[in-house]
Amino acid sequence: NSLRLMELCSAAEIEPGCATKVEKDGLALAVFNIDNAYYVTDDLCTHGPGSLSEGDIDGDVVECDFHNGAFNIKTGEVVAPPCMIPLRTYAVQVIDGRVFIDPDQPAFGLDEKA
Ligand code: FES
Repeated sequence: NSLRLMELCSAAEIEPGCATKVEKDGLALAVFNIDNAYYVTDDLCTHGPGSLSEGDIDGDVVECDFHNGAFNIKTGEVVAPPCMIPLRTYAVQVIDGRVFIDPDQPAFGLDEKA
């Protein structure tokens, strides 16, 4: 099980309770800071064109500003309709103040590919 690490951004550039969008290697990602812990999901809402890095963050929930669907940022689970499909999450590591993900690894194994 080899780890593939992709560098996304500096941890310090994202304030607690905020998110930033990072595009890299064909992925569009939302990087969230929740109480100085970092979480990464796909930026694109699973319901439509909403960009989750621009959504409303309340604790560990992000609300899409398109139709107000919402997801748990840590697990990717849907917490409010009209979203139906969980959001893809990524395993995160912060090394020397930089945020990295393993693009092949979900955060908590809840959204493993079938
Ligand atoms: Fe996000 Fe519809 S696009 S809730």
